[in-house]
Amino acid sequence: MPKAIISPSVLASDLGKLNTECQRMMDGGADWLHMDVMDGHFVPNITMGAPVLSCVHKGVPGIFMDCHMMVSNPEKWVDDVANAGGALYCFHLEATNEPLPLIQKIRERGMKAGVAISPDTPSTAVSDEVGNAADMILVMTVYPGRGGQKFIDRCVPKVSELRARFPDKDIEVDGGVGPKTVGQCADAGSNVIVAGTAIFGAEDPNGVIKVLKSTVDE
Ligand code: DX5
Ligand code: ZN
Repeated sequence: MPKAIISPSVLASDLGKLNTECQRMMDGGADWLHMDVMDGHFVPNITMGAPVLSCVHKGVPGIFMDCHMMVSNPEKWVDDVANAGGALYCFHLEATNEPLPLIQKIRERGMKAGVAISPDTPSTAVSDEVGNAADMILVMTVYPGRGGQKFIDRCVPKVSELRARFPDKDIEVDGGVGPKTVGQCADAGSNVIVAGTAIFGAEDPNGVIKVLKSTVDE
């Protein structure tokens, strides 16, 4: 299995000092930073877009922005996110009928490509072609739309199914993940761990990052 990557979700941070929060996470051992882009259409909330990503990219040297695009027209934002310094562009399979050309477009713009599936979407929605073309598969463990929700256990078997089919890909879990739930995700084969509340809400965020990482790598 690929090595552990910890990607704190900044949605749970103090957004008024976003760059400082991102820097604090990187200093504390975070590998990536998970940027939740919501458009008020694919999901009910609106969060941040390319202008904010660009400020973070300029203000936090060396940051790897793992951009989770919870948007209805994922094709529309590839250029803007690439220009803003996005490193990985992860779109929802529920939001497009043309995943392969989109993956190609993301790659052409110099980003890694991720495909995400929501809790009600089966793992079989990720075709062999799409899974092989993508750099990462994101299995949502809550319904996309907001942070701080309860982990949905029934999503975990999808991680195992995808790990069996794609032994070398990064497989990310996102939603309600923390020290109590990371074990089952790692056992199922997830190596990229997103955590918002569990990290930013902790007294010792660096300690939580360490626990998440060692659980995956052990
Ligand atoms: C949910 C987002 C998640 C969320 C994770 O729509 O995609 O990234 O912010 O936050 P926690 O870890 O608090 O569930
Ligand atoms: Zn997310």
